[in-house]
This record gives sequence, C-alpha cells and structure tokens, in this order.
Amino acid sequence: MNKLELIQLSKTYGQKIVIKELSLKVQSGEFFVILGPSGEGKSTLLKMIAGIERPSKGNIIIDGKDVTDLPPDKRNIAMVFQSFALYPNMSVRQNIEFPLKMRHLSKQAIEAKVKEALLLFNIEDIADSSVAKISGGQKQRVALARATVREPSLFLLDEPLSNLDARARFVARGELKRIQQTLGQTFIYVTHDQKEAASLATRVAVLHKGVFEQIGTFYELVERPKTRWIGEFVGEFPMSFIPGSMMGLDDSVEIGFHPHWVSEGVPGINCEVESVEAVGNDLYLFCSTDRGVKVIIKAANRRQIGEKTSFRLDKYLTFKNENRIDSNN
Ligand SMILES: Nc1ncnc2c1ncn2[C@@H]1O[C@H](COP(=O)(O)OP(=O)(O)O)[C@@H](O)[C@H]1O
Ligand SMILES: [Mg+2]
Repeated sequence: MNKLELIQLSKTYGQKIVIKELSLKVQSGEFFVILGPSGEGKSTLLKMIAGIERPSKGNIIIDGKDVTDLPPDKRNIAMVFQSFALYPNMSVRQNIEFPLKMRHLSKQAIEAKVKEALLLFNIEDIADSSVAKISGGQKQRVALARATVREPSLFLLDEPLSNLDARARFVARGELKRIQQTLGQTFIYVTHDQKEAASLATRVAVLHKGVFEQIGTFYELVERPKTRWIGEFVGEFPMSFIPGSMMGLDDSVEIGFHPHWVSEGVPGINCEVESVEAVGNDLYLFCSTDRGVKVIIKAANRRQIGEKTSFRLDKYLTFKNENRIDSNN
C-alpha cells in the first residue's frame, strides 16, 4: 500500500512557482530521500506534507486518506528539522515524555515508551541530563526519540544532520538507517548531501525546477542519469562532458562520463592535470583536454599538477539537448 501519495501538487509564492504539478507515490517502509540543491523547494514540499504550508493546488494522501485540508496535528506525522527544537530547560527524559503527557497516557505507559525510546536511540546514560549540556549528535537523537514515542504513521526529516560535524554525521547516518529499519516506518528525508542519499535511501527523488527530474536508486541516478543536469548533480563528482565532434561524432551530441568510467594512462584523449584530489585511497584528476574541455577522471597512477596524461572511455552516455539519448552498454 502507498503510505504517501502526492497528486499534481503545486506551490507558488506570488509569481514564483516553487513546486509544479508534482506527483509521487511512496510505499510503506521506504526510506525515501528527496535530494536537491539549496533553494529548489525541498523544505516547502515537506512542509506541505506536514500541513504547515498549504498547497496552491493538488492533493496529499496519507494512508489512503486525503489530508490536504487537515491541520498538522490531525495527520499523524512527525517532523524533525535541522534545528532540533528541544525544550532547553528540560532533561532528555522530560523532552521525550512531553508529547505523551500531552496525550494524558498513564504513568506506566509513559515510562515504558520512554524506556523503549532511550534504548532504541542509545541514550539511556544521558536520560537525566539537561539537553542544554549534551552534544549536537545527542540532541539529534533526543529529537528523533521524542518524535518516535508518538508512534507517527510517517516521519518527515528536513536535513536533520546538517548541524553536526563530519564525524557525528557519519555515526548518525548509520544510526538513522538502523532505527528506520527497527521501526519499520516510512521516512521522507530531505537533503542536499549526496552521501546521505547514497547511504540511506531506498529510492532518491531529485528535485529540480519544481519537479522530480528523476526518481530511482542512487546507483541508477549515477549510472543512468536521464538528463545532463542529473549527471552533473548526482555523484561524488559531476559527470564530465565532451562534444561529439571530439569523438568523431555528430557535433550536436555530448558524451558524458563519470570519473570512474575511464582508464587513465592509456592512449586516447590527451589532457593536462590542473589539480588532484584524494578521496580515500583514490586520486581524482581535474584535467584540461587538448580541445580545451575540462574533465574529471579517476587516476590509475600518481600524477602531479602540470603533468600530461591521456585516458580512454570504458563507458559513456550520449546526450542531446540536455537529455540522454542512448548508451553504449
Ligand atoms: N514563505 C515564503 N515566501 C516566499 N518565498 C518563499 C517562502 N518560503 C520559501 N520561499 C522560496 O521558495 C524557494 C524554495 O525554498 P525552500 O523550500 O526553502 O528550498 P530548499 O529547502 O530546497 O532549500 C526559495 O526560492 C525560497 O526563497
Ligand atoms: Mg530547506
């Protein structure tokens, strides 16, 4: 069954169209990531699902029920923002208890649920600390724990890790995935971060110009981008493009390839190394080809800035008028 369905959803602010007749179906239990650059309308879309913003047009269906006209508290959703919005003068436990007390649950029921959440999020040891005194990563867990005790039907998360440092983000990514699987709940997760999309998502929808330009697994987006824009946006590095004429092809087409689709140091296209970037054990070369086009290729050998090399394309995709028209494999 679909957990969430968006039908022809639009949002305009004055003359500005932020979301444009966007439709989507998310299945129950998915970790669905909405990926896009800043300013593309990701938060606007999430706020409409939450009921904080009203759509200009279209419908929002949750669990088969049209909720378009319902206020946020009647939608049975939990929303976690970038800023964790905890009650600063309360302890961790009091923060988590709060939504349950609002519902007038029995003392035993509250205790049991809070205990379960403290265990799930691995925060039993800080249960009685003031939230003013805990780390960013811990605050994020408390915010999520507080969201889960209400047993929402759908979780909406808007860049919840972006205030954490790199190390804490890495840990939190793993935790989030584990928690989502343990809960078996549907997460709609908004981010501009490629790594989060790659590591968390069952499916990724890329938001661009008010619509989903492509929806698929992260792997599909990298390997089979539908458009030039997706090729440039998705992945650790952007795809490179060279004019068809350089390959002896029709000059109205472009050849697109990811850095790992080339063999470097073999005869082919000549280029000069302009800069070098290490990612883990791999080296990436930012090169200028002898026809002036810049490319990013994965190095097979150690290279210095200014060194000349060449590469062969093992795989490429062909684009015309910004769209992929075919592939060689
Ligand atoms: N309340 C508002 N009034 C006018 N414009 C808005 C409002 N909220 C968002 N916008 C505009 O909508 C666009 C998308 O914003 P947002 O949803 O925050 O993008 P993202 O979350 O992808 O960074 C931006 O251009 C922003 O300026
Ligand atoms: Mg945003």
